[in-house]
Amino acid sequence: MLKAAVIGVGSMGRNHVRVYRELEGVELVAVSDQSEETAAHIGAVYSVPHYTDYLRMIEECKPDLVTLAVPTDKHYKVGLDLIERRVNLLIEKPIASTLDEATELVQSARQSGVILAVGHIERFNPAVIELRRRLREGMAGRIYNIHAQRLSPYPTRIRDAGVVIDLASHDIDLMRYLLDQPITRLYGETLRSINSDREDMFNGVLRFQSGAVGVLDVNWITPKKVRMLTITGTRGMFSCDLLSQELFFYENETAPSQWDALSVLRGVNEGNILGIRIQRHEPLAAELADFVGAVRSGGKPTVPGSDALETLRIALDFMRSAEEQLIVNLLDTNVVGVAEQML
Ligand SMILES: NC(=O)c1ccc[n+]([C@@H]2O[C@H](COP(=O)([O-])OP(=O)(O)OC[C@H]3O[C@@H](n4cnc5c(N)ncnc54)[C@H](O)[C@@H]3O)[C@@H](O)[C@H]2O)c1
Repeated sequence: MLKAAVIGVGSMGRNHVRVYRELEGVELVAVSDQSEETAAHIGAVYSVPHYTDYLRMIEECKPDLVTLAVPTDKHYKVGLDLIERRVNLLIEKPIASTLDEATELVQSARQSGVILAVGHIERFNPAVIELRRRLREGMAGRIYNIHAQRLSPYPTRIRDAGVVIDLASHDIDLMRYLLDQPITRLYGETLRSINSDREDMFNGVLRFQSGAVGVLDVNWITPKKVRMLTITGTRGMFSCDLLSQELFFYENETAPSQWDALSVLRGVNEGNILGIRIQRHEPLAAELADFVGAVRSGGKPTVPGSDALETLRIALDFMRSAEEQLIVNLLDTNVVGVAEQML
């Protein structure tokens, strides 16, 4: 039995508590929150000890692994405290607020031999798992375009991060994971519409080494929750609804093949539409099972800290691009030109 605990049992942390409680080979030993009321409530619901001081909890309960689900601007301080005490940890996404903080977390975990996983949960969405498998088999052919739409109403509880690092980091991570190649340049635009402190609307364009183009459309200003991903290649288009865990493939009937030299001249044509059967499961349960497995085996989790650091780097580059109206070239990390060059 591995002993698990959760620090920060607000809206996301309490899901971790529930899932640890149901996970085989894991014993939920305690919860901690700086709010006595919140900690006591969740402790009582799950009949485990609760703490407002997480250091005391670590000392007394000695968990083997901990989920850190405090607000993003606290990930660094609490995360380092845990790493210093050699506690394996899963930090909710994004890994931290700044690149320096994230880098220190990753380096300290490496030096201390601590497993550091990050909660980029979409990698555990069963529709994404199936999509990735089929992309690798070449079902869509050569990829031209990946398009992510993540639209939401405004979340009043998030006060420490804007929509780029809080929400778009999901899609940046997904694009990196699905295409599995370096991003060579990017350009972003943001808007502060409802929230005057931080951006709540983001549009970004990025280019991968293969030439594929990624487009991100992410905001907190939409009265409908949308989580869609489309990927277009030579052989057709995948359409994935991340919320309903549905995956479709729209075949390009005239996809070029080695037997039909003329097909390229006919362009793209509507072909069959394939609904792909998905074995649905809760992504968080798969994410925590993956983390627990890495702790047990000493292996690498599906989202190691180093990977989340790269995703944060891209998110922050998008912010810089938007603020300074620049195209950011990522191969040599130099800014190569002004926005007008895109036109
Ligand atoms: N993976 C996902 O899809 C997903 C979804 C939602 C939130 N998140 C991430 O989870 C984290 C928490 O977000 P949330 O929406 O649950 O926020 P929240 O405000 O609902 O909960 C945060 C909790 O942490 C507690 N807290 C704050 N500082 C603390 C400290 N120093 N020690 C102990 N407890 C402390 C607060 O009292 C609160 O109960 C954020 O990093 C967010 O980005 C991830």
